[in-house]
Amino acid sequence: MSAAAVNGADGDSILSLMNVESAYGPIKAIRGVSLKVRRGEIVTVLGSNGAGKSTILKTISGILDPNRGTILYKGGDITALDPAVIVQRGVSQVPEGREVFPLLSVRDNLLMGAYTRQDRDAVARDIEVAYGYFPILRERATQDAGLLSGGQQQMLAISRALMAAPQLILLDEPSLGLSPKLTREIFEIVVRINRERGTTMLLVEQNANMALNVADQGYVLENGRIVMEDSCAALREKEDIKEFYLGVKDAGVRGERRWKKKKNWR
Ligand SMILES: Nc1ncnc2c1ncn2[C@@H]1O[C@H](COP(=O)(O)OP(=O)(O)O)[C@@H](O)[C@H]1O
Ligand SMILES: [Mg+2]
Repeated sequence: MSAAAVNGADGDSILSLMNVESAYGPIKAIRGVSLKVRRGEIVTVLGSNGAGKSTILKTISGILDPNRGTILYKGGDITALDPAVIVQRGVSQVPEGREVFPLLSVRDNLLMGAYTRQDRDAVARDIEVAYGYFPILRERATQDAGLLSGGQQQMLAISRALMAAPQLILLDEPSLGLSPKLTREIFEIVVRINRERGTTMLLVEQNANMALNVADQGYVLENGRIVMEDSCAALREKEDIKEFYLGVKDAGVRGERRWKKKKNWR
């Protein structure tokens, strides 16, 4: 159960997207996405490769400006604001593929995550918080981040996001390329961060099994559109969803063979 569920949050949303459309030149990547994330919750967006998951996160964090639609964060309109401003307001992103700075030390990578902050003492304390969650990062503090394993780089990317003192973390496929065991370990820490710090999480994943086990609310994204939305408890029971990750049947949400054919659901 997430922090929101534990605290009995009353349903106020920290983030909402309304009819957001984003494109890369002529390629429409998301086509009118609406979703809500309540404060303290873990919300997941599930979808296969190319569904538009990263595009949603990039549009929220201001890396990509939408063609249409509105993004509200804590009641204010953040649509198409400068990414640095969005970080300063408390939204930080863990990008797909970690994107750590390979030639900087682990500690300097963490400091990069705090670049918008002036409170040096609190930054020093937050480095300790990050090391508390991921003790291996303390051991590797002075090593180049490029020398870390994939799992350790994911831990660093999450820690770097924490260094911005966020209220909302956008997590882009943290399980990508990691073993099931490492994925479990990292998700356990994500849940701990959510519970202990009350940090809201928006998690996009292809790994439906893992994501549905940690999240409260889930959306299914297909070809840039939300095609299903429910509590994760309910989604876990849906035959369609079970079939996707068990790979039992070829039918998709719309009765097409799209997802299975791509073999993206693990
Ligand atoms: N930089 C880009 N230039 C052109 N098309 C892109 C770019 N990034 C993503 N796309 C396209 O946008 C769609 C959604 O991509 P993306 O959001 O990365 O999906 P996901 O994260 O779910 O795999 C895909 O069709 C993809 O090919
Ligand atoms: Mg992606």
